[in-house]
Amino acid sequence: MCGIVGYIGKGQVSGVILDALSRLEYRGYDSAGIAVLNSRGLEVRRRMGKLKELVKAVDERPLKGTLGLGHTRWATHGEPSEINAHPHTDCHGRIAVVHNGIVENYAPLKERLLKQGHAFRSKTDTEVIAHLVEELAKQHPLEEAFRLALKELRGSYAVCLVSADEPRRIFGARNASPLVVGVGKGEAFFASDVPAILARTRRVVYLNDGEVVTLGPEGPRITTLAGRPVRRKPTTVTWDVASARKGGFPHFMLKEIHEQAGAIEQTLFNRLDPAKGRVIFDRRTRRFLDGLSPQEKLVIISCGTAYHAGLVGQYMLEEMAHMPVDVDLASEFRYRGPMLDRYTTVIAITQSGETADTLAGVRLAKEQGAKVFAICNVMGSSIARAADAVLYTHAGPEIAVASTKAYTCQVTALALLTLYLARKRQRIPTAQWKRLVQGLGDVPRLVDQALAGEPAIKAVAAKYAAARNFYYLGRRYNFPSALEGALKLKEICPLIHAEGYAAGEMKHGPISLIRKGWPIVFIATHSPVYEKVISNIEEVRARHGDCIVIASEGDATIKRHADSLITVPKTEEFFSPIMAAIPLQLFAYYVADANGCDIDQPPNLAKSVTVE
Ligand code: G6P
Repeated sequence: MCGIVGYIGKGQVSGVILDALSRLEYRGYDSAGIAVLNSRGLEVRRRMGKLKELVKAVDERPLKGTLGLGHTRWATHGEPSEINAHPHTDCHGRIAVVHNGIVENYAPLKERLLKQGHAFRSKTDTEVIAHLVEELAKQHPLEEAFRLALKELRGSYAVCLVSADEPRRIFGARNASPLVVGVGKGEAFFASDVPAILARTRRVVYLNDGEVVTLGPEGPRITTLAGRPVRRKPTTVTWDVASARKGGFPHFMLKEIHEQAGAIEQTLFNRLDPAKGRVIFDRRTRRFLDGLSPQEKLVIISCGTAYHAGLVGQYMLEEMAHMPVDVDLASEFRYRGPMLDRYTTVIAITQSGETADTLAGVRLAKEQGAKVFAICNVMGSSIARAADAVLYTHAGPEIAVASTKAYTCQVTALALLTLYLARKRQRIPTAQWKRLVQGLGDVPRLVDQALAGEPAIKAVAAKYAAARNFYYLGRRYNFPSALEGALKLKEICPLIHAEGYAAGEMKHGPISLIRKGWPIVFIATHSPVYEKVISNIEEVRARHGDCIVIASEGDATIKRHADSLITVPKTEEFFSPIMAAIPLQLFAYYVADANGCDIDQPPNLAKSVTVE
């Protein structure tokens, strides 16, 4: 939440900062701002609304300078408005600050600073940082004042600061909110996330909590909060700039839906050998998994779409690896007092690796002596670094708020994990295991085949675009698919209420709402509960509900049960959530598009939820 950028270089900074912000806008888009340092001092422009308003303001009155900060906001303290937009400045407009996170003790700090004569303009927690540094800089050099100010903050922050008194440096620090340093040729960056800087550099230094950075054009000088020097070399990220651009698609979401076959292939690459029937992991992952005890319990924690992947993982791991699995929303897990011990492995599933609740769950697990295994898309992210072992999904950068390719890659990673553990523990007949390994190798091709159904799915979406309530129903492996399908529609089409339910539970409540024409999406792919799902469909049709059915290709009987039919390639049930995800994503996309929704930036949401 909130995207921050700091840049020091040779050219005019405002273009570089605005470009970087445009790649971070998925983190928040309530308001945006920029501060540039030049010979006249600090110049700040801020605008309410999306980044394009700020771009307009800078076009009208250009900013000159070679060092500056930028921010795109997802409001926490203080409504979205120009006055609450970042950067925030001190009393004399000589210090500017951008921040992502929450300063939990801002109220007492503000009270103290008011008594000391500071004048506040905004309702934000962030403004206290500018005034606190201003106050401390009366007695200390700026870097020291920054460090002392950070020591007083409680809560989470990624923060960057510039001062007219230090025109060759930007200062940055992080604690429980993401911040990376980019090192280019004669230029350097701070950014919340790697895609912001990919167009200029792929050399990145990941920061740890409690680290403070002084950034010059030559790169970073890192120290701890206590002032101890930290040595860390930049790593080169493999993502390329094209992967962070729309590439001719009208929305990132549609582009990312279409990238799924390749993303899954990357996730399987070097890990699956269908010809020899093998799942291969790197040494660290192998050592971790081979060391699990016979009585190991697995607890999956995650949020949003990643939670739905976790639910699929529960079906997979329990059925094939015969291991006990709990799945928890990370935001509940961390406050529930879970019973963990050294025979528990907490599996954290996360695209960003920065979700605050999942990260807090990981820390709780470690405190209680459990092991942590992460399934994560972002190398060097907080959760990837906190985990004992990581299975990376290689989905590439996911920019759209609604997760698509990260989800199918998470399910793919869970399939790999399941097959590895099932084999290791000898819980699965060899023939079945081989069939599943081969089936997994086929998934990318079948995903492409499912994507070819796009025109038909678009036509079905057009038919239902005016509806305002949807149910999504499924059973077993596709109960999570129902939840995920409904979430996709809710996320990107705020005009619509959509609810996912276990089809067998429908009789215990939701069925009472069904009226003539109410659209219900059923996932009725090939499975051991296929006939039960058909009964559920008929129960709905008896009440004149309108059934949109996602079924396996070649199913000859399904037609007579469906008002609208969408087919996906037939697979083992084990892979069916990946197949079902494709039409569910496309259906949500085209319903939202037909309703004129802002698909990549839906109101009130943000891609990376780094506050509680
Ligand atoms: C937000 C995003 C979702 C995502 C969830 C968890 O709500 O909009 O797309 O599934 O956070 O994020 P994570 O990065 O932990 O997977």
